[in-house]
Amino acid sequence: MSTIETVLNETRVFPPSTEFAKHANLPNIAAYKTLCAQAEDDYLGFWGKQADENILWHKPFTHVLDEGTPPFFKWFDDGELNVSYNCLDKHLSTQPDKTAIIFEADDGSVTRSSYRDLHQRVCQFANGLKSLNIKKGDCVVIYMPMRIEAVVAMQACARIGAIHSVVFGGFSAKSLHERIHDAGAVAVITADEQVRGGKNNPLKITVDNAIKMGGTESVRSIIVYQRSGNDVPFNPTRDIWWHELVNGKASDCEPEWVDAEHPLFTLYTSGSTGKPKGVQHSSAGYLLGTIVSMKWVFDYQSDDVFWCTADVGWITGHSYVTYGPLAMGATQVIFEGIPTYPDAGRFWKIIQNHKVTTFYTAPTAIRSLIKLGHDLPSKYDLSSLRLLGSVGEPINPEAWMWYYQKVGQSRCPIVDTWWQTETGSHMIAPAPGAVPLKPGSCTFPLPGIFAAIVDEAGQDVENGKGGFLVIKRPFPSLARTLWGDSERFKKTYFPEDVGQGKYYLAGDSANCDADGYFWIMGRIDDVLNVSGHRLGTMEIESALVANPLVAEAAVVGKPHEVNGESIVAFVVLKDELPVGDAATTMVDELRRWVAKEIGPIAKPEEIRFGENLPKTRSGKIMRRLLRTLANNEEITQDISTLENPAILEQLKLPTR
Ligand code: WTA
Repeated sequence: MSTIETVLNETRVFPPSTEFAKHANLPNIAAYKTLCAQAEDDYLGFWGKQADENILWHKPFTHVLDEGTPPFFKWFDDGELNVSYNCLDKHLSTQPDKTAIIFEADDGSVTRSSYRDLHQRVCQFANGLKSLNIKKGDCVVIYMPMRIEAVVAMQACARIGAIHSVVFGGFSAKSLHERIHDAGAVAVITADEQVRGGKNNPLKITVDNAIKMGGTESVRSIIVYQRSGNDVPFNPTRDIWWHELVNGKASDCEPEWVDAEHPLFTLYTSGSTGKPKGVQHSSAGYLLGTIVSMKWVFDYQSDDVFWCTADVGWITGHSYVTYGPLAMGATQVIFEGIPTYPDAGRFWKIIQNHKVTTFYTAPTAIRSLIKLGHDLPSKYDLSSLRLLGSVGEPINPEAWMWYYQKVGQSRCPIVDTWWQTETGSHMIAPAPGAVPLKPGSCTFPLPGIFAAIVDEAGQDVENGKGGFLVIKRPFPSLARTLWGDSERFKKTYFPEDVGQGKYYLAGDSANCDADGYFWIMGRIDDVLNVSGHRLGTMEIESALVANPLVAEAAVVGKPHEVNGESIVAFVVLKDELPVGDAATTMVDELRRWVAKEIGPIAKPEEIRFGENLPKTRSGKIMRRLLRTLANNEEITQDISTLENPAILEQLKLPTR
């Protein structure tokens, strides 16, 4: 723990402007502190009130929290609701014609969908799902492009009580297969192809390849949305076109009322083993987390045009595309393409054209846009913006300042939001009208979130000392378990040694400064954060050793200017050490292999070959040493336990 030190000496402070604070939901620090004090004084009363005020209940709950067998907490347990009803029907009487989604396709064409229209589409598709005999509690995998239809598919599942599991469209057939199999999905919703940056990528073929891998007999139907219209393989006994499925279906569909704890979705994320975990969320608690954070952190106002750039394949796209904004009745932008097509001004052009007020993206996107067009934002009219957000990884103060000055024109607060797939919604983030900002800090925990920094024994550390980030009390939006593996849930997130199994262990290290601001320092497990995406080193290692030419592999991360972290793989081949052209060819081959096994996001940036890996006498790979090598730093650590010191020379140089 002593190695975790304060890494930042940021001293700039940006208090909220009077103009912003004047209209904010939490207009000053006192308003924020009052909510925190209410939660402190009467924890259950606080969350009960929030759930009562923010959710439309079909049957009201009578108890707030059932501790049951910790950590398997239940919230608002005897209440009944439907999440899709809370996102759509709720607005039908008050604002049916308000635009819910402004959709901009890859080629720039724009379609709008009102709340009435979206409700109708969701109902028709839900009726379509029902006609395929998909029922409450069934699991449906969604592997879709970033379009209105992806949101419709998710909302329709929620409407009928089916549990969706969205798989990011960039994942390979193998990763998709693993997720379909683990979930025991009864159906897969996909498209013929995905169109991004002017290129078509196959989706249906990938689904077929995943199904062919076997063990997916649970899948009865594959629903295919026609995006590109290009020919794709089609099996008429199992596959059905989206447009044929909804054709003639009623435009109303009575929601399936479910218990508060009914699983809304699972979403797979990487952990420290080779097998991704299916993080399982509840209905009411999850929805509540997205709603309160929309109010407190995004300071939601009814005339906002909200734009979260995340794909629905990640938790950010669940909470701040499909659920949070719709539950608020917001107008939001959904964008199919990529930030750099047709040029690096695309994001700024979208903000200008659709008069976006709230823009939420990842530091990796910001850094790449700085690189590609430092001054580009000034060529667009970004005066509609009033709030900026950041998520997925620590934002370095330089990127923060550029975002603040060039994009926000020194007018818009930046909400740096710390949270995770497991937490469902923001945990540590500023209330922008109340909290003075420090570039690089996610500031303070939200009301009702008891975040703290502790040592290995679960004891609070003093400010300025780094430690493990924990959340000391259960909160509504926390994942309920891991799909089919509650033991792993308990062991990973509520370990006995830190806080005697009572604290949620986030897996990050962090630091509090003298003013109580939180600074996130990075993961404490073998999880990398590449372009804001979580990847387990073990997953990449398993993919590498699955190649018949590979004997052994170890993967570490190294800092990367744009992507935050990049992947460096150390590989031992079964045959002799490749040199020269043979090595280059092998590097290409293995990078392609990993892209095929997991997806292009997991491709190692660098591969180094050795006759062995640095190991202790007991055979443990010394990852610390590998990290030093990957960073091209001098080895200063104690290598006396190293079995084979000669190997270090070999691994020193990048193969290319
Ligand atoms: C990291 C994404 C610093 C962190 C919502 C966490 C962050 C992991 C921030 C979760 C932030 C996320 N500052 N680090 N504002 N937000 N992280 O599950 O390491 O994809 O544990 O959820 O991203 O990634 P996940």
